[in-house]
Amino acid sequence: MAARIILDSSHRLILVISIFYIYISGSTSAAMHYGKPKQYKPCKSLVFYFHDIIYNGQNAANATSAIVAAPQGANMTILAGQFHFGNIAVFDDPITLDNNLHSPPVGRAQGFYIYDTKNTYTAWLGFSFVFNSTDHQGTINFIGADPLMNKTRDISVVGGTGDFFMARGIATIMTDAFEGEVYFRLRVEINRVLVFKGVRGVGFFPISRGGSKESLKIPVSR
Ligand SMILES: *[C@@H]1O[C@H](CO)[C@@H](O)[C@H](O)[C@H]1NC(C)=O
Ligand SMILES: *[C@@H]1O[C@H](CO)[C@@H](O)[C@H](O)[C@H]1NC(C)=O
Ligand SMILES: *[C@@H]1O[C@H](CO)[C@@H](O)[C@H](O)[C@H]1NC(C)=O
Ligand SMILES: *[C@@H]1O[C@H](CO)[C@@H](O)[C@H](O)[C@H]1NC(C)=O
Repeated sequence: MAARIILDSSHRLILVISIFYIYISGSTSAAMHYGKPKQYKPCKSLVFYFHDIIYNGQNAANATSAIVAAPQGANMTILAGQFHFGNIAVFDDPITLDNNLHSPPVGRAQGFYIYDTKNTYTAWLGFSFVFNSTDHQGTINFIGADPLMNKTRDISVVGGTGDFFMARGIATIMTDAFEGEVYFRLRVEINRVLVFKGVRGVGFFPISRGGSKESLKIPVSR
């Protein structure tokens, strides 16, 4: 009862708007249903790279990735034949803002990939980009199939924390370089991802430490 009295009309409006946004942004189809997807204007995109060095028996000092499962007859030093089917690798890869492995990392890509297709190169990704830099603090969580032979691949962004609070959408990745079966570098572009900034509003990437006003604006006509 007391709580209800304390809520004046402006508070009530904020509460209603907050609930409204939690609801419509929870799923794209719901947003579509409301017929207002145009209100979410993308700001900028965020581009970065991550570097995977697979342990090959000789590069322990520099390896960032380990084969942790292999099919019968294969081992954990050399990726298996038949499109690596059955291999699982766990990785802790540096993230850089340019394509140089030796650039100062802004975070780590941490998780695993599974080679799960017998007749082509496809990996199944389950990992987080863990950002720890002056511009970005927080995680972006990735899940889904990565058809490695495609030049560009869309991967689901299923969640996030910190600056990427409740991120949801699609990121585009491409293989930027690879050297044999020991090193590869992926370019990631986060350009169709919705993030929340608390219940104060919804925005697109990037929400930087400085805070882009554009991305924090509550895109609603009152
Ligand atoms: C690790 O990387 C450095 C620099 O790229 C290279 O000089 C060194 O030989 C590598 N060490 C191993 C064990 O691969
Ligand atoms: C792993 O398997 C490869 C062939 O797939 C073989 O050349 C290599 O010697 C094996 N390594 C170990 C440590 O068993
Ligand atoms: C983030 O970076 C700071 C400064 O470099 C460091 O002290 C801290 O341990 C890092 N945190 C994590 C989780 O890596
Ligand atoms: C991979 O490429 C094929 C053919 O170009 C396309 O149909 C498919 O949608 C692409 N898959 C992804 C996940 O991007």
